Amino acid sequence: MPDSFLEIWHGDILSVNIERQDYYAFLSDEEKLKATTFLRPELQKKYIKTRGALRKVLASYLNINPQSICIKTGKYGKPFIENEIFFNLTHAGNKFAIAVSNCSEVGIDLECHKNRINLQGLVGKCFSKQEKAYWQALAKEQQEIMFYRFWVRKEALVKAVGRGIALGLNQCVVDPLNQLCFIDIPSDSGEAGEWKIVEVTLNKDYVCAVVINDVEFNYRLKELK
Ligand SMILES: CC(C)(COP(=O)(O)OP(=O)(O)OC[C@H]1O[C@@H](n2cnc3c(N)ncnc32)[C@H](O)[C@@H]1OP(=O)(O)O)[C@@H](O)C(=O)NCCC(=O)NCCS
Repeated sequence: MPDSFLEIWHGDILSVNIERQDYYAFLSDEEKLKATTFLRPELQKKYIKTRGALRKVLASYLNINPQSICIKTGKYGKPFIENEIFFNLTHAGNKFAIAVSNCSEVGIDLECHKNRINLQGLVGKCFSKQEKAYWQALAKEQQEIMFYRFWVRKEALVKAVGRGIALGLNQCVVDPLNQLCFIDIPSDSGEAGEWKIVEVTLNKDYVCAVVINDVEFNYRLKELK
C-alpha cells in the first residue's frame, strides 16, 4: 500500500514566537467557550495551542477549514473524526505530538523523563511479570530511561485501542527482547501481534512512541512551528 502513511507532528506548547490568536482562530465555538474556563493562564494557553494544532494538522489532510472539523469523542474519551483519517494526541512538559495515519487506529504517548518519582512503585503496579524481571535486572543508570521506553509503549497501546488506562497497563506486555512488539494484550483488544510499536525520537528530554496496526506505511516526522 504505497499511499499508506504514519505522520508525527510535534511542537512546543509555550513557544514564545507564536501569538495565542493564531491557534485560537482554529478552535470551534464550543472550544473557544471552554478556553474561557481555565483559571490558570498556562493551562488555557496549553489547551488553545494543542487543540488548535490538532485542528490545523487535521485540516491539512482534509482540505477544509480547521474550525469546521467535527471532532467527536469515543466512549472512553478518545477523540476521532468520521473519515478515513485516524489520529491521536499527546502532551507532556512543553511538548505535544500528534500521530496521523490512513492505515489504522493509532495511539501516541509522550513523556518528559525528568518529572516522575517512585519508579519502583509504578513498575510494581503497571508492569507485567516479564517486564518487571527485565527492568529489575538492568543497571541502575539504565532503569530510568527504560522505564519511560516501556511506559510510553504501553500507554500508546491503550490509546490506540481507545480504552485508556482502564484497559490495564500491566496486561499490555512489551516484549523485553524485541521492544517494537507486544507479547500479550487483553483478549478483547485483539491479538498482540496485530500491533506494531514505532519509536519516535524528538529530543533528549522526551520519550515518545506510537502504536499502530502492523502494516506497511511511509513514516514521516514533521515539526509544527
Ligand atoms: C487517555 C489517557 C491514557 C491519557 O494519558 P496521559 O498520558 O495523561 O495524557 P496524554 O497527553 O498522553 O493524552 C491525552 C490526550 O489523549 C486523548 N485521549 C483521551 N482519552 C483517550 C482514550 N481513551 N484513548 C485514546 N486517546 C485518548 C485526548 O486527545 C487527550 O488530550 P486532550 O485532553 O488535550 O484532548 C488517560 O487519560 C486515560 O486513560 N483516560 C481515559 C479515562 C479513564 O479510563 N480513566 C480511568 C481512571 S482510573
